[in-house]
Amino acid sequence: MFNINWDNIIEKDVNDKNKELAKKAIQGIKHKKETSEIGFMNVNEGIINTERLISTSKWIQDNADDFVVLGIGGSSLGGKTIVTALNNKFNKKGIRVHFIDNVDPDYFTDLLNSIDLKRTVFNVISKSGSTAETMAQFLVVYRLLFEKLGKKEAVSRIILTTDPKKGALRPLENSMGFKTLDVPQNIGGRFCALTDVGLLPAAVAGIDVKSLLKGAGEMANRSLTDDLVKNQMLEYSIVKYIHALKGYDISVLMPYSTKLFDFSLWYVQLWAESLGKQGKGQTPIPATGATDQHSQVQLFMEGPKDKLITFIGIKEHSNVVNIPDFETPIEAFSYLSGHTMKELLDAEMNSTQKALYENKVPSVKIELPKLDAYNLGALMMFFELATATTGEFMGINAFDQPGVELGKKYTYQMMGRKGY
Ligand code: PA5
Repeated sequence: MFNINWDNIIEKDVNDKNKELAKKAIQGIKHKKETSEIGFMNVNEGIINTERLISTSKWIQDNADDFVVLGIGGSSLGGKTIVTALNNKFNKKGIRVHFIDNVDPDYFTDLLNSIDLKRTVFNVISKSGSTAETMAQFLVVYRLLFEKLGKKEAVSRIILTTDPKKGALRPLENSMGFKTLDVPQNIGGRFCALTDVGLLPAAVAGIDVKSLLKGAGEMANRSLTDDLVKNQMLEYSIVKYIHALKGYDISVLMPYSTKLFDFSLWYVQLWAESLGKQGKGQTPIPATGATDQHSQVQLFMEGPKDKLITFIGIKEHSNVVNIPDFETPIEAFSYLSGHTMKELLDAEMNSTQKALYENKVPSVKIELPKLDAYNLGALMMFFELATATTGEFMGINAFDQPGVELGKKYTYQMMGRKGY
């Protein structure tokens, strides 16, 4: 589990009114949990069939060299985040896991041309079973498999992950014999990373799904107290909220880790789609350290003072890379010799944070002991809970997305769907 360093925030005083708000927010979330209105905090309470997940992933590993996820939004980002963070994508021996979260015909064709369909398993993920992008991908892939391998093989090479009862995909389990997995009814798209949605791609990549759930479960348990001193998630949420009230309403997430870049994108969707409503919201920005020191940090430093930055540092990396001497000492880089890449990365994070603070840009630092399944599970649960809690502070429902419906309806109309 991780520490949070608060030294660089600007609004430090949580007044009684906000303490009261924090208490109410936790009560609100607990109530939603107890009445089963929301279920994402319960992922480590036996609602996920991990044995089925693991046996399905073993079958996939035995029968495929490529595993392709067809899905978009919450049906893709969570799995992608976990796989990017914990899988070695340069390992040529393991199964390759791909996420097609768009209907870009060029990217789609490039990917399909690069794989052997006879050695590929596809996972169609859609809670509703009606998302246009995912259904288009499904139709194309099914037809391709059908033509190349016949109906029986086509059906066996596509796994459907969808609502356990509702939606357009579920009936295909019985009518055509597709294998299926579940998106629990009370867990919405962007909160379902730690269900079959994100856990099957993770298990296929060889990631320890039980540890992901354990970390998530422990974070959920420790985040349900209304005591601000004991509850880091609540403290983080209230700090962000009070900064937003003072105009710091852009929320940057900047892990010093390339492997956590997709985590930033996952966070962006979670925060934006959950909290951007009724004319309210904090705009999330994804960033990566140290890379963005040569890109967005100029803006963070000298642009409008409207950003609160969350840094994520990793205390212990899996690899140590020593920076060696060069043949002839050259001052411009010889000072680096004798250090490690991690030392440089940490120095860059701490210096950037210090310089920003001196320039009146507030930040918080999450210190992750290690980037492993347990800590990633905890981190994902932390941000899911912080999103739900901030929704309570703001008095908005974090679990719907009415703002995307109109665009969807126009798409249906333009594509000739009946009734639109
Ligand atoms: O968070 C959400 O609810 C959305 O981003 C959905 O995940 C996304 O629209 C895909 O929906 P579905 O899983 O129904 O295809």
